[in-house]
Amino acid sequence: MDISQGFLFPPLPIEIVFGYGAIERLPVKLKEQHVTKPLVVTDRGLKEAGLLDEVTAIICKSDMPFAAFADVPQDSSTTSITSALELLEAEGCDGVIGLGGGSALDTAKAVAFRKTNTSDISTYIGLNKLENPPLPIFAIPTTAGTGSEVSYWAVFTDDTTRVKVSVGGYWVFPKVAICDPMMTLTLPAHLTAATGMDALTHAIESYTNDSYQPISDILAYRAIELIGEYLRPAVTNGKDRRARYGMMLGSMLAGIAMNPTRLGIAHALAMPLGSWDLKIPHGIANGILLPHVMEFNMVANLQRFVKVAEALGEQTQGMGMRAAAERSVTAVRQLLTDIGLTTGLGDYGLTEAKVLSVVEEAMKSGNIAANTRQAAKEDVTAICLATL
Ligand SMILES: [Fe+2]
Repeated sequence: MDISQGFLFPPLPIEIVFGYGAIERLPVKLKEQHVTKPLVVTDRGLKEAGLLDEVTAIICKSDMPFAAFADVPQDSSTTSITSALELLEAEGCDGVIGLGGGSALDTAKAVAFRKTNTSDISTYIGLNKLENPPLPIFAIPTTAGTGSEVSYWAVFTDDTTRVKVSVGGYWVFPKVAICDPMMTLTLPAHLTAATGMDALTHAIESYTNDSYQPISDILAYRAIELIGEYLRPAVTNGKDRRARYGMMLGSMLAGIAMNPTRLGIAHALAMPLGSWDLKIPHGIANGILLPHVMEFNMVANLQRFVKVAEALGEQTQGMGMRAAAERSVTAVRQLLTDIGLTTGLGDYGLTEAKVLSVVEEAMKSGNIAANTRQAAKEDVTAICLATL
């Protein structure tokens, strides 16, 4: 951070209701926002797991009508956003509840802003391009990873180009985030691992990139500590209520931290890796990329990476700066092994031939500009190839 530039921390116009049992507050929060009939946006897996029924039962108890769209795909897309919007209009809903991981939450955000912003979707790609405020958005995460419940971004695939795009800005914030760790108790181990690594990547990229600042630092550093402490037990014993609480808190803090700072090379690459026919899950892509990106970035700010190592519980006393910074990479590699994420991106369909187009697309990302070490196309290509 250049101290002569000062810093800006955006307002956080979200009411965060956090803790076991927070979900019971949903009807009150809907009424406070003058919603009379919400649309619940979720995916089939959560419907089959009974979480949709749990949430709609709570809405029913307050005699409020609702509609439900349970067809969000693994990656939210313009097609599913349009289908959900048609249902919202047919049912006369006046608020949108996202229930799920990043895809469900981002679909809910997009449905809410598409209702009031009707130009071609490409008009709104980028930051602060929306013309009108959306319907009230309520976010109920069922994973501890995306941070979408507190972020002002909605990420989805544009089905005409098959590329992941982002719409961001103040109006994309949910009105209420209901963070109830109970909603994550049944999340399978492999999804806990992948989404948890997404959260850790948010925290580390926010903490070490070029836009770090005092307020996001506090949030991101605490997020690294929490995820370092609780991701292993959350993966190895999903019913560990303390671990689920710690992960949901860490993921949420990292989500707030990344709003003003943006991220780095891992997220720049994760977007195209989740596009086209590759569709590599976002958390997997970030988790596998993270130690490679840290290794590349470390020399640009050794001190920051020493702090990351310490936040992850590494002993660095008496070590030289370089060796201490390297402990941050070792710690992330050990974490990946411990949570069973030991594969390369080649196992998910990435080939040398595909790396070129992935890197081409990644270089357009604002996350490349935010990265702490200037990265040329050759550098990003080398990082990507190292993950195969
Ligand atoms: Fe992410």
